[in-house]
Amino acid sequence: MRYSPLVPFDPEIESYYAQGGEQGRLDQGYFPLERARTQEIVLRHLPPPPAVVLDVGGASGVYALWLAARGYEVHLMDPVPLHVEQAARASAASTHPLASASIGDARALAQADGSADAVLLLGPLYHLIDRDDRLSALREVHRVLRPGGVLFAAAISRFASLVDNLDNVTGAGLPHVLASPAVLGMVRRDLEGGPHRNPTDEAQYFTTAFFHHPDELAAEVREAGLALVEVLPLESVGAFTGAFERVWADESLREALLSLVRTVEREPTLIGVSPHLLAVARSR
Ligand SMILES: C[S@@+](CC[C@H](N)C(=O)[O-])C[C@H]1O[C@@H](n2cnc3c(N)ncnc32)[C@H](O)[C@@H]1O
Repeated sequence: MRYSPLVPFDPEIESYYAQGGEQGRLDQGYFPLERARTQEIVLRHLPPPPAVVLDVGGASGVYALWLAARGYEVHLMDPVPLHVEQAARASAASTHPLASASIGDARALAQADGSADAVLLLGPLYHLIDRDDRLSALREVHRVLRPGGVLFAAAISRFASLVDNLDNVTGAGLPHVLASPAVLGMVRRDLEGGPHRNPTDEAQYFTTAFFHHPDELAAEVREAGLALVEVLPLESVGAFTGAFERVWADESLREALLSLVRTVEREPTLIGVSPHLLAVARSR
């Protein structure tokens, strides 16, 4: 494991992730749809292996190890020591290990200028609540990418907490957002575009974060000097799929769902309903 100097990292966010919830997250609820859509969009744009990929905010290595197994040279970095340890352990057990797993922060990458063919930034933008910090992270990506290299930057939609908390029901069978004044207040603040803060002790309401309007994500990517290709919804309307687990377990139903999501992925009036967004951009 290599260590790079850290810029200050929010202790509340660190203690949220220190609970270990990231490992296995993408197998739960409708998260498999987030993973499948991320993977299909990434594969549309990645150059063929071998190429150098940085997974910044790579957590326990789900995407990093998937790409290493496809022949890429993958370097993972994350500010949470538990995540880096989990990724290093999984890498050591893999027949296609990572090239490195290190402590690192998106705002100050240890990599040399122009040294990467692609960067996954799947999570850091959620937690950089100050615009200047998000721009620093995006400019760092621009610096480390070779000209023409590709960035995949995930964001949480401004409307995600409304969508999620209308869908989830409490023990009394009511949507969380309607059953709890604290959750209602949180959702209202999220909709106003302020930083998301969890007023409860419950991890299901996430931790301190910034939720992007799709246009805001596009603007930030451009302001950092990158050439935006597009902003796509990850789950899109698939987040509303009834009986999701049954659908996902059946290959033909799963393919039908993915095909419907693909059909509407460039419909601008639907993008914001997607809990997660993915910006694709190229370095100039
Ligand atoms: C929701 S998780 C996503 C993990 C994984 N990339 C995925 O898509 O499943 C967000 C990740 O971003 C990391 N992160 C938060 N702030 C960061 C920062 N300033 N620089 C780099 N990573 C950061 C967290 O430690 C966490 O691993």
